[in-house]
Amino acid sequence: MLWRVPRNCWRKKMQLINKNSLSQAADCLRAGGLVAFPTETVYGLGANALDAVAVAKIFEAKKRPSFDPLIVHIAEKKQLETLFAHPIDPLVFRLADCFMPGPLTIVYKKADIIPSIVTSGLGNVAVRMPSHPVANELIRLAKVPVAAPSANLFGQLSPTSYRHVVKQKMEIDYLIAEDDCEQKAGIESTVVLVQQNKCIILRPGIITAADIKEKLPDVDVETASKNTEISSPGLLNSHYSPTKPLYFFDDNTKLPPSSGLILHRDTTLTFNAKRIIYSSHSGNLLETAANLFESLHQMEDDPQITQIYIQPTEKQGIGISIMDRLEKAAFRFLSEL
Ligand code: TXA
Ligand code: MG
Repeated sequence: MLWRVPRNCWRKKMQLINKNSLSQAADCLRAGGLVAFPTETVYGLGANALDAVAVAKIFEAKKRPSFDPLIVHIAEKKQLETLFAHPIDPLVFRLADCFMPGPLTIVYKKADIIPSIVTSGLGNVAVRMPSHPVANELIRLAKVPVAAPSANLFGQLSPTSYRHVVKQKMEIDYLIAEDDCEQKAGIESTVVLVQQNKCIILRPGIITAADIKEKLPDVDVETASKNTEISSPGLLNSHYSPTKPLYFFDDNTKLPPSSGLILHRDTTLTFNAKRIIYSSHSGNLLETAANLFESLHQMEDDPQITQIYIQPTEKQGIGISIMDRLEKAAFRFLSEL
């Protein structure tokens, strides 16, 4: 079959489009181009997952090391059958029935059609079905599964607005700018490895171990620690970093001049910060997760701020996922203290 390359697909300058031009973006994906699109977690940078050359462009655009595998995005649950190797553990479908579409990524043995560049040579592939209507429609129109990491340069803050993607200045063809989403998770999906009727959480997210246990009480749910043999590059110590130093804050921290401070609930105390952003006023951790990257981006972009301080959250439920992102974001600045 001869493939038609749509006009504009290979131009260097990124085109900002909206949800009314999805078929254009879908054509571009099918022809091997790169499209950044909104999801209910973070913006993704997508390419046709079955086209190794297109997927290579993602690694190039993001400056992402080739050892870090990509999540494949689908529009319908039946696509799981073509992406995973048979026989498929029934737990895969039970998880899918409970949590797809939504912020859950399932890792399982890969089918042969998936090029090894997608999985960084691993025998497993990660698959997710976003609930964001724009993401879902784009993938449906593209008629191919879409490999997509978060649409940021490797190691930088994840994008939760199209403005955060623009700021990265990556070489991509289309950016679908649609920031409105009813259910905004704000942090990346929970990544779960399915192995012998067991779930192993490789990356915590909005869907917690307790959520899985509640829906599937007979299933063992474990959390992968750095000491386990399970390898997932998402467990890197340093990740999601702002370009300015980021430190944890408690009420006794002496803030240097030009500090930005991110708090997660209102307080009667006063702090000597140049700017304070509240990720939530009420201490609601779902709200904090939804606003986490936006708060960090705002501090990163503010010329008056030279370093950022952030309150830790409790390490319970979603707090585990928030602290996972924050500890990685602050990791490279720890040695400077
Ligand atoms: O919410 C999300 O998951 C977003 C949106 C765009 O869907 N995507 C995202 O992708 O966060 P990324 O590339 O930033 O993170 C994907 C992580 C990898 O770093 C890795 O930890 C894990 O998913 N992963 C992907 N494929 C894997 C595999 N075959 N085995 C183990 N872990 C895998
Ligand atoms: Mg990422």
